[in-house]
Amino acid sequence: MHHFQYRNGALFAEEIGISGLAKTYGTPLYIYSAATFRRHFKAFDSAFDGLDHLTCFSVKANSNLSVLKMLAKEGAGMDIVSGGELYRALKAGVDPRKIVYSGVGKRASEIREALAAGILMFNVESVAELARINEVAGNKGVTAQVSFRINPDVDPKTHPYISTGMAKNKFGLDIESSLAAYKMAAELENVDPVGMDCHIGSQLTTLEPFLEALDKLLEFYEKLKGLGIGIKYLDLGGGLGIPYDEEEPPHPSEFGAALSARLKDMPLTVILEPGRVIAGNAGILVTEVIYTKSNPAKNFLIVDAAMNDLIRPSLYDSFHRIGEVEEHHRPARAFDVVGPICESGDFLARDRELPAVEQGERLAVFSAGAYGFTMSSNYNTRPRACELIVDGDKVIVARKRETYEDIVANEL
Ligand code: LLP
Repeated sequence: MHHFQYRNGALFAEEIGISGLAKTYGTPLYIYSAATFRRHFKAFDSAFDGLDHLTCFSVKANSNLSVLKMLAKEGAGMDIVSGGELYRALKAGVDPRKIVYSGVGKRASEIREALAAGILMFNVESVAELARINEVAGNKGVTAQVSFRINPDVDPKTHPYISTGMAKNKFGLDIESSLAAYKMAAELENVDPVGMDCHIGSQLTTLEPFLEALDKLLEFYEKLKGLGIGIKYLDLGGGLGIPYDEEEPPHPSEFGAALSARLKDMPLTVILEPGRVIAGNAGILVTEVIYTKSNPAKNFLIVDAAMNDLIRPSLYDSFHRIGEVEEHHRPARAFDVVGPICESGDFLARDRELPAVEQGERLAVFSAGAYGFTMSSNYNTRPRACELIVDGDKVIVARKRETYEDIVANEL
């Protein structure tokens, strides 16, 4: 966590003190470090320097326009899963030839928008979707480049909600059905099967599942070659994990080296779709303690950030490290850090050893840059948080705090 550091007991984002930012912009407050985003992107992308490759940032992890713009400037492409994400990527100036479009439920209107933009490739997840893309492309008089998302039936050994490459998951096509799907695509007028794709899950902390999936894909690639179907792109999805707590996931350089060793002599452009590994540790969520209270069972810190701001603890029982914004060196106790929302599932941490923080003091929730703001909502009619980017000694307001008027704006 290089760019979020304590200096004399005060937490900084790059060159700027967090306390001051919280006073100026209020809380709950997302703060991203530009230097961290750039460093993570470069570390990941350069791990594949030995291969012809394209790194497509997974927009769902952090879709703020300023973040996308910053990554596009570094050369990133984007992995999108909706018309809305396409809109954001184009608005951020991403080259459409660097956009890949995944997802099980692309609507005709979204396919039309992506074809009009001239994206690189659709990652197709069913035969019905293939037919739909062929039809929409035909109506437009264009050919759509497609790959099939192959479900390799590999256990990624992560949380069940974010495992995507097992037979029981809704994603992609099983290998058996894929062969017929490629044959069909080769015969259809308005689609061109140029790629193979897979994404087996998120927050993976070992390399083995990735390699197991890759081996299955490469075996399948040979079969396709036998049928005279030439593949140019191999999209390996995202999924590399990050340290939230004690996890020790492989470094991107190890990940790159292991995959590159298998792929170096293949005539393929490799596409990667990292999200969390770029964004996760590039952001924090700052919150203020509204009240403290204790009962015979628990000590509570009631804070102004809630499950609508960061749902990961409630939804996946995820661990996010929490620290004081200003250290007071008080003795530690076990606390439940909870939000103001009317649900017992509204917590950021449970039974967490923390120094005895007092009312009015602030906490930083770390590793909140991925799937933090993007999964936020207005539940309990709570305005969504402000997002800042700190770049050296500069602050960019990447998203203003919502107002009550914003929340009701579309209600008639
Ligand atoms: N590509 C596809 C097709 C995906 O579905 C995903 C994530 C990614 C790439 C990026 O995966 P990453 O590199 O970030 O692991 N909300 C959950 C994570 C859901 C991931 C969904 N798909 C969480 O907060 O842990």
